[in-house]
Amino acid sequence: MTYDLTNRTAVVTGAASGIGAEIALVLARSGARVALLSRRAERLAELADKIAAEGGQALAVAADVTGDLTAAVTSVHDTFGRVDLVVNNAGVMLANPIDAGRADEWQRMIDTNITGVLNVTNAFTKDLTAAAEAGGPADLVNISSIGAHLVFPNFAVYTATKAAVTHLSANLRSEFGPLGVRVTNVEPGLTESELLSHVDNDEVVREVSAWFEEMGRLSAAEVADVVAYATSRARHVNLRQIMVLPTTQV
Ligand SMILES: NC(=O)c1ccc[n+]([C@@H]2O[C@H](COP(=O)([O-])OP(=O)(O)OC[C@H]3O[C@@H](n4cnc5c(N)ncnc54)[C@H](OP(=O)(O)O)[C@@H]3O)[C@@H](O)[C@H]2O)c1
Repeated sequence: MTYDLTNRTAVVTGAASGIGAEIALVLARSGARVALLSRRAERLAELADKIAAEGGQALAVAADVTGDLTAAVTSVHDTFGRVDLVVNNAGVMLANPIDAGRADEWQRMIDTNITGVLNVTNAFTKDLTAAAEAGGPADLVNISSIGAHLVFPNFAVYTATKAAVTHLSANLRSEFGPLGVRVTNVEPGLTESELLSHVDNDEVVREVSAWFEEMGRLSAAEVADVVAYATSRARHVNLRQIMVLPTTQV
């Protein structure tokens, strides 16, 4: 399904795979120019080619959300000008029992899932507020997780980072909303993607795979559809909090 996002300019982080790649696709198919931002340049180039082949506009920008984004922002501005739709989707889930003491994984999740969201938001705040001031729609979309609210054994740090994203979204809205910028926090449940492939604990992988079997899963495109729907509403309508789950996940 597509929506009307003509004349919109989007940045999607974590566009190399999973939910981010599908968000980029549906936004482009809905008429937006889309900057694809994550670390794997080759994957981004493939996706940009696919979007171009469909008649859309995409720019591949290889960048790490935890680092300096100056060059990435310049590249987006030089090609597309001002951005009015930012999707903070990049994230990592590195699950292990707390007594494994994986401080390296904790730091990586905090850096990517929280600091990365802040970096990208900071990089495009002026664009978003200027777009709203000019009378157009402006969107900040954060991809959090149902894990922000539930208890999953072995996922303490991951779910804590997602709780931070959810609370950050609610608070940012108090600053952005009065300026005309929507903030939408999306909390997906179990969704098909590469997320689990980074977990190096076989027992945890088995456990999560069993959840997928028991509770079902969404496709990444089904989550992406929700983002395109929310950002294509009239500019005074803000779906601020969206929990999207497989019907059988309770
Ligand atoms: N799948 C689920 O069940 C589920 C449920 C709830 C929430 N989520 C959330 O959905 C979001 C997308 O995840 P996914 O499920 O689609 O998994 P995924 O396929 O692993 O996608 C994660 C994306 O983030 C990018 N990324 C990771 N670290 C990055 C960094 N430092 N800088 C820039 N990009 C980075 C990766 O690309 P590169 O490796 O190329 O950088 C990748 O494209 C995450 O925030 C995740 O927490 C997923």
